[in-house]
Parts: sequence; structure tokens; C-alpha cells
Amino acid sequence: MAPTAAAYVQPIADSTSVFKEDIFKGKVLFCTGGGSGICRGMTEAMMRHGANATIVGRKLDRLQQTAKELSEATGRECLPVQADVRQPATLEEAVAKTIEKFGRIDFVICGAAGNFLAPISGVSENAFKTVIEIDTIGTYSTIKATIAHVRASKGAYIHVSATLHYNGTPYQVHVSAAKAGVDALSAVLAVEEGPHGVRSNVIAPGPIANTEGMDRLSPKNVDKDKFNAYPVGRQGDVKDIANATVFLFSPAASYITGQVLPVDGGSEHTRYQL
Ligand code: HXC
Repeated sequence: MAPTAAAYVQPIADSTSVFKEDIFKGKVLFCTGGGSGICRGMTEAMMRHGANATIVGRKLDRLQQTAKELSEATGRECLPVQADVRQPATLEEAVAKTIEKFGRIDFVICGAAGNFLAPISGVSENAFKTVIEIDTIGTYSTIKATIAHVRASKGAYIHVSATLHYNGTPYQVHVSAAKAGVDALSAVLAVEEGPHGVRSNVIAPGPIANTEGMDRLSPKNVDKDKFNAYPVGRQGDVKDIANATVFLFSPAASYITGQVLPVDGGSEHTRYQL
């Protein structure tokens, strides 16, 4: 039986963040894919540093549970809103609900993603299109739905990408194409919106332990020892992505835009990415 979403929850109370707890006080985060996994951890870190948040996803019960847990853990408000990034109208509704509740949007995490392992010959046209629709077009639609508000607050975007398209990663043709598109979208957004005070960067997570994504991508008999061969000698943790998020959204990163930040323990430079 597949593990439940709760099996992947990794509270980051013992975050190694060195930032002040209230640096995002009065700010609002809008996060797609925030109901679980890496994006949940990114949201928790932002809330622990003072932000209120809207989390968006397809499964309302999971979003509601996550919102409750994050609010209890951080003392900040978290609004769960059901929306599918493949349906722009639902995103626009989620933005409207966010504005109604919080009055502004400062930060956006484009994190909703879909993935599975399959060789090119096993990826149907619809399967390929589905991942492009979630990852790439979903990012485009999220930007379109939020940009006016992010401009108004001179805020910032973080797009969750990957490192697997830097090389030819087998069984990942759909996601490799989709994430390359996400990286390109972010760069254009940074250039076009920079003059309006908006920044846009990409975080490219490496293999992050105890996430649904990693479970989906790791062959069942994966040799865990291979992670020792990574430059930092371990698999990543949600906390690692959360800390990078806090940094990139913080004023400490105000001169950083249009960049891709791999948070992967240096695995990009090894032969082992998954
Ligand atoms: C081949 C597959 C497949 C598989 C689905 N499909 N799984 N093809 N191998 N294992 C095909 C289906 O047969 C169908 O094509 C098409 O994909 C759409 O599938 P649906 O199930 O109808 O779509 P949907 O319910 O919308 O699900 C979308 C999904 C699914 C992407 C297929 O996996 C999903 O919802 N995932 C969300 C959660 C997730 O993956 N999170 C992890 C992200 S991690 P046909 O032709 O039959 O109609 C991540 C990490 C990046 O992104 C890298 C880190 C290193």
C-alpha cells in the first residue's frame, strides 16, 4: 500500500535557518503544491519567519489538514484553497480568496508538479502533455494569476525545478522537458519584471529524502550507499530546500534574480542524480 501523505511530513522546527523569526512579518506567500512534500516545508519555513500563507492544490482534505498543522506549529495563518494549476480559472479564484483574506501577495512558490518513471517509448502523448501542463503551463498560469499583486508588493517568485535536465536522465523525458521550460520562464520573468521590483529565481532540488517525489523516482532496490558518494555525503532534507527558500525571498538576496540555485549537495556534478 502506498504511504499516506502524513508519512512524508517532516516538521522543520529544528530548522537550521540563521534568519530572524519575523523577517516576513506582514508578508503573504502563495504556494502551489503546498499541501505536501517539499512545498509544504518551504511554506512552513516562511510561516516560521512571520509570513501568512495560502496553499493551493488538488486535494482539499490534505490542504486543510496541512493548513491546520502549519498554523498550530507556527502561530501564523494558513489558507487552504483547492485549485488545479491546469485550470487557470481556479487559480484566479485562489488568488481572489487570498486577497480577500490577506489583502496582498508578496511571494509566490510555483511548486505544483507531476512525475513518474517511464522510458520515452512508455510515455504516451497524453502522459507527456500532462506533465508539461502541470509543471510548465501550470507555472505560466500561476505567474499570470499573481503577477499584478506581486508587482504591487515588489515581491518575488521561486520556481521549484530539478537538476535532472542538466544531463540526459533516463525515464525522465517528460519532466526534463517540463523543468527546462520552467527554468526559461523564470529567467524571462526576472528580466521583464526586474524593472517593476519583482525578482524571480529557481530552486533545483536534488534527491530529497522522505518525499513522495523521491519515492516515486527511486528504483525500489536503490542502493542508499550511493548517496555517500555525493560531495556532501548525504541525501537532502526538506529543511535544506526550506532554508534556501527563506534566503532567496529575504532582503539578503535582493541582488539575486534570474538564477537557478541547485540545492543538491553537489550531486549535479556527480554521475548519480537520482
Ligand atoms: C507511464 C503514466 C504513468 C507511468 C501516469 N501515466 N503514470 N505513463 N508511466 N508511471 C500516464 C497515464 O496513463 C495517462 O496517459 C497520463 O499519464 C495522465 O495520467 P492521469 O493519471 O490521468 O493524470 P493525473 O491523474 O492528472 O495525474 C498526473 C500524474 C500523476 C503526473 C500522472 O503522477 C500525479 O498526479 N502526480 C502528482 C504528484 C507527484 O507526482 N508528485 C511528485 C512530483 S516530484 P494515457 O495515455 O493513458 O491517457 C517531482 C520531482 C522532480 O516532480 C525531480 C526530483 C529529483
